[in-house]
Amino acid sequence: MNRLEGDALKEWIPIASGTDLVSRHVFHGRLPGQDLAIWRADDGFVNVWQNRCRHRGVRLTIGANDGAQLRCQYHGWCYANRTGTCTYIPAHPGDPPAQTLGNQAFPSMEKYGLVWTTLGIKLPEPSVHGLENEEILTLRAVPVNAPMQIVCDRLREGAQRFDRRVSQSAPRAEAFSDGPMHVVVRNIADSPDTALTLLIQPVGSDQSVIRGVLSGDPSADNPMPLWRFFSNALNQMRDDIEVNSLTASVDHLQKADVLGTPRPPATSRIVDERPSDQYLTVRVSEKRPEAEGIVALELTPVKGLLPAVQPGAHIDLCLPGKHAAQYSLVNGPTETDRYILGVKLEEDSGGVSRYLHEELQKGDEIKISPPRSRFPLRRDAVNTALIAGGIGITPILSMAKTLNHVKLNFALHYFVRSQNHIPFTPDIERLGSDADLHVGLSIEGTENQISKILDGYDSETQVYVCGPPLMLEMAKRMAREKDIPERMLHTEYFENPNAIDLAGAFRVVLSKSNRAFDVPSGKSLLQVLQENGVAVPSSCEQGACGTCVVKLLAGDPMHQDVYLSESERRENKWIATCVSRSASDELVLDL
Ligand code: FES
Repeated sequence: MNRLEGDALKEWIPIASGTDLVSRHVFHGRLPGQDLAIWRADDGFVNVWQNRCRHRGVRLTIGANDGAQLRCQYHGWCYANRTGTCTYIPAHPGDPPAQTLGNQAFPSMEKYGLVWTTLGIKLPEPSVHGLENEEILTLRAVPVNAPMQIVCDRLREGAQRFDRRVSQSAPRAEAFSDGPMHVVVRNIADSPDTALTLLIQPVGSDQSVIRGVLSGDPSADNPMPLWRFFSNALNQMRDDIEVNSLTASVDHLQKADVLGTPRPPATSRIVDERPSDQYLTVRVSEKRPEAEGIVALELTPVKGLLPAVQPGAHIDLCLPGKHAAQYSLVNGPTETDRYILGVKLEEDSGGVSRYLHEELQKGDEIKISPPRSRFPLRRDAVNTALIAGGIGITPILSMAKTLNHVKLNFALHYFVRSQNHIPFTPDIERLGSDADLHVGLSIEGTENQISKILDGYDSETQVYVCGPPLMLEMAKRMAREKDIPERMLHTEYFENPNAIDLAGAFRVVLSKSNRAFDVPSGKSLLQVLQENGVAVPSSCEQGACGTCVVKLLAGDPMHQDVYLSESERRENKWIATCVSRSASDELVLDL
């Protein structure tokens, strides 16, 4: 690659025609030194990714585009629309992949009937003089075995080949360059306004693709004769260029800086659009009443792309003057352009839900965390039972949408107070007979119904439950009674119903950093760690979300959270630092 081509890669480059990206297909694109997998999701977004699975480097162009994600054919790793973040690893079905794990995604843009990308800093939209606000007709792409610069030069010199005018009295066709990769040819047709713009895509050191766009009024009458004429003219140009390419290449090698400038490392040139693990600013793009006491919020990014969502994930909302509050995302795999939340008005949520209901307005900007997945969905189960109560429908609905999208067997059971309390009704209706509503049941009725659902359990069914604490405790007790293995039952608490006892002092020893602190009565272990500069992430701070859980090496913990399972508590290998304490004088943590 010579310096000119290197510079060109930092511009927007046309890499495909919009019509190349047919539904559920993965198109193979190329730039010098870069193989690309290009695919359109069902929501219309065009993804331009490095053509290499992050796992074993297998080409993603042989992967499967399911409309919302691309699945590698080798080990089935799934990558999300827009960000390229890995959302599922079949070999680890119970573990959410790290948000930092993903494919290199390049900026993408569709304009003038073409798909564009850049390997440089993301620029303003590509702009080609003469094509704005014009009717356009895209010609078939013509690959040429010659370097970009030679192709540009030959197209300029051979402009008369594109002269289609009947009248010979007017001046012949003329060509000029409108950028390093553009050649515009005017006076080509009887209509004075019609122009042919030729955009050159560099592909390799001796390969390019010519992409032609007719503008002006190409479709005023039957466009097919024009299309055929210019396609044929381009093919003839290609033949001429290739015949002369040997001589031309020698010329070119003499003129160009063939030693070139050393190519900077990829990381310094390529902008990774994947959002970082920082708090991000989003705008409330939609706020609507969803059901009695519930509003739906849709959040769109102020800049860039939103991190990918795994089914069952939640985000923290950071509102001015309030504690961070966690809300599950309702997003299915096809909803990658916004986050969708259902917020129930609660009396005891520190005023957060009231603020969201009464003060937050459409158009406001707020800060949120990237999604965290503490309630991951396995996608290897023969059957999945999804049980939701009240506002617990939010993560469960996200799971149902995912299973529905990938056509896996599942049944959704939704327990709700009344018809008026059902949020996201269109989404639930779209699940058809896979969704079963249980409206207005008493506590006993709910217990009977859950018991019936679990009676239908077989050893290949995974069960997910989210709802009020009473319902979760009920499901856990019944699962124990029916000998359903704990590993098959997954629960998510929105709140910890236990009263937290902060009495009793103890000492905490950090084995990795060789430090020790006293935890006095009345202060949480998390507080003491954070006050001493030990970075332990936290979110709910009431023992429900699991964000603050750390590895325990020694000591006798007093678990007060609802995040760890019974067996995890018995093993004493983990502790939720925000609420749990010590029954022994000392706890040793792996920090
Ligand atoms: Fe949520 Fe501790 S911060 S469990």
